[in-house]
Amino acid sequence: MTKLIDSFGRGHRDLRVSLTDRCSLRCTYCMPHDFAAWLPNESLLTTDELITIIEVAVSQGIEEVRLTGGEPLLRPDIVEIVGRINSITNAPKLSMTTNGLALAKLAKPLVDAGLERINISLDTLDRERFKKLTYRDRINDVFAGIAAAREAGLAPLKINSVLLKDVNEDESIALLEWALAEGLQLRFIEQMPLDAGGIWSRKDLITADQIFADLSERYTLTPVDDRGSSPAEEFYINGTKDVVGIIGSVSRPFCGACDRVRLTSDGQIRNCLFSMGETDLRGTLRNPDLNDEQKREAISRAFHQTVAEKLPGHGINDPGFIQPVRPMSAIGG
Ligand code: 5AD
Ligand code: SF4
Repeated sequence: MTKLIDSFGRGHRDLRVSLTDRCSLRCTYCMPHDFAAWLPNESLLTTDELITIIEVAVSQGIEEVRLTGGEPLLRPDIVEIVGRINSITNAPKLSMTTNGLALAKLAKPLVDAGLERINISLDTLDRERFKKLTYRDRINDVFAGIAAAREAGLAPLKINSVLLKDVNEDESIALLEWALAEGLQLRFIEQMPLDAGGIWSRKDLITADQIFADLSERYTLTPVDDRGSSPAEEFYINGTKDVVGIIGSVSRPFCGACDRVRLTSDGQIRNCLFSMGETDLRGTLRNPDLNDEQKREAISRAFHQTVAEKLPGHGINDPGFIQPVRPMSAIGG
């Protein structure tokens, strides 16, 4: 039963957990490519600390946990983390968003540990473009990762793509053609202002409407009715059961149905990607004056407090909007 209900009546069931702010890529929309303000190791939550927080969150109605980063697979004990989350009483549904680079090695052990669903980020099929977009020449590792994820039985395999002006804006049809041929479920995500003052600009935004129009030149798209709390507007393709998603985070905000809370890798909870404030749980967990029960009570209170303070929307389209100073990699995608 959901207990985390905000002042607008939205129940919160979904916890996004960033396991590290580090990444093996440097996607331009996520961080400035020379970004170097990484968190020191001792600032990251330990696995025991993470599990305590997730246990408390589950006891307060969280039903789903998505592991993100940065790149979650860079966490050395990722397989153990997945196994431990699955062993929690009333274990939440567990999924992960990854850049896929390490999946060739890890997909099978992750599935064996209980991972059920995965989203892999891939914005282009072209090696040179991938290099330009991520500052790393590793597109083949992503393809190998996708193959390994399929082999390991992860289904449906979802691919997240962000389209950028003058980089890959012309690739929506090619990406969808590829995804359909490979049996992958593609979702386009509008670029959000989350790159710590990097390249985001509203005038360059490739909008959901634009993506829909481009795809419609090749495909007949019919809306799937039941969107639930999913940010993706989904469309059946050419009257088949295949779907494509378009996430209009900026131009068609879905804040009214938001059921998410986020935990950063350094133990802060946030009620929104764009919230200006965070609530510190790490200090509570490391406070020598509190026993385990007191810590859990304080963490539970903090979740309620943060949800109570949640604003109705992200405010990207409001005058005076200021983007968070921490990049997406630190906040958790
Ligand atoms: N806008 C939209 N999506 C983003 N992602 C990372 N940064 C941004 C941004 N600024 C995506 C990644 C990944 C997921 C975690 O979020 O591509 O798929
Ligand atoms: Fe890494 Fe994901 Fe950010 Fe790209 S978007 S740099 S893969 S965390």
